[in-house]
Amino acid sequence: MEKEKKKQILKFFMQKGELLSPEYFNNLDDKDKTPEQIYEEYISKKQEKETQIYTKNSSVNITSTYKEDYKKRDITDFVAYFNARYKSIENILMNRQELANIISISRIKDKPEKDSVAFIGIVKEKQQTANNNTILELEDPTGTVKVLINKNKPDMFDSAKDIVLDETIGIVGVTGNNIVFANNILWPDVPIQSELKKSPDESYAIFLSDVHIGSNNFLEKKFNNFIHWLNKEIGDENQKKIVNNISYIFIVGDLIDGLGIYPGQEDELVIKEIKQQYSEAARLLKKLPSHINIIICPGNHDALRIAEPQPEFYKDFAEDLWNLPNVSIVSNPSTVNIHSSEGFPGFDVLLYHGYSFDHYVSNVESIRNNGGYDRADLIMKFLLQRRHLAPTHTSTLYIPDSTRDPLVIDKIPDFFATGHIHKCSVADYRNITMICGSCWQAKTPFQEKVGHHPEPARVPIVNLQTREIKIMKF
Ligand SMILES: [Fe+2]
Repeated sequence: MEKEKKKQILKFFMQKGELLSPEYFNNLDDKDKTPEQIYEEYISKKQEKETQIYTKNSSVNITSTYKEDYKKRDITDFVAYFNARYKSIENILMNRQELANIISISRIKDKPEKDSVAFIGIVKEKQQTANNNTILELEDPTGTVKVLINKNKPDMFDSAKDIVLDETIGIVGVTGNNIVFANNILWPDVPIQSELKKSPDESYAIFLSDVHIGSNNFLEKKFNNFIHWLNKEIGDENQKKIVNNISYIFIVGDLIDGLGIYPGQEDELVIKEIKQQYSEAARLLKKLPSHINIIICPGNHDALRIAEPQPEFYKDFAEDLWNLPNVSIVSNPSTVNIHSSEGFPGFDVLLYHGYSFDHYVSNVESIRNNGGYDRADLIMKFLLQRRHLAPTHTSTLYIPDSTRDPLVIDKIPDFFATGHIHKCSVADYRNITMICGSCWQAKTPFQEKVGHHPEPARVPIVNLQTREIKIMKF
């Protein structure tokens, strides 16, 4: 090949940010091909090679994603939805030994005074008495009953401080005159698991959220650094070894900044069209090594209804994203199983963006008094204990769509991944790894107002073989 042509090819590759290996270059013999054709051939061969690794070492199985159903809804749908929710939590609670002999609430009044009683109900009301005891009103499909939580039982009284409206709990107590004196309160909770599940081979998963592409506060430079790191253009040898084994990236909502999310938001946008925001997101994600599986769910900034469950991104808006072969788009919430192989069941990941978090930061004393927005771990633990992503009806908007409540945490996950509050946190609760993603957006005036303390560009990297987690800062 003539010298001038070689120069042209090298220049073209450099412009595209690709380094051609000398071996590949020396084997080029087709004189008739343009530099552009040679480049395209090179890229497709490179992707083919990466895809081979991708199909060999990793797996993504979407176990639960919500598909929108456009039927009209009426009051009976709400009734069916609440009954479904109650039944699911009741079933979980009935596994508790203490609740083996429950009776329905309507039968409590038939019992003599000072008789032991156990039952399950939804918290309809919560009040403080003049003596500073707590009174709950609990409801099941048969009726309602008042329950007294005595301040002289300090452990129980303390945990009762965190009881929120509409959650479903179990009560063990003693009957009084039209009241039950509680001796024990039971939450559905997750069981104590003795073993932490570990992958048989070395592999890593990364959790991101709240990228906010399109916002003038999007930290593009930092995000590009992250992309460069994943392409091994920066980072030390040890990090490059890790990067080779990263198989999964989760993006837990708010991929774009959206449009019309709060008053005046349009003044903070550099990309003012939804479709273009998603196209830009696809352009950036395309730069990630194609062997990495990317799993994305929506958040409240994405171009969807805000009511949960939020379905998968609309193809009309996010076509470019749907077209990426290594991207899986799921609903919010959803569950995904990753990394299963022969003899290994894989890890179950529960994805929930976290729109309900704001409510619990302001309404749950133990969260509010222990760091609030800085403690996503406390909020996540609170929700796991209640086996519901938004136990109080007003904590999020919801669509009563099926005979099943998709916000119930029915399956125990290995990972509970969230975002929304723009501050990364990683913690363990009964062998469930709880991860809240950071963000890629500088603090906005709106966040200032609502009391968020964002810490952008933190990336938790989970070693699936050891379950160790490192947080990298970009
Ligand atoms: Fe959000």
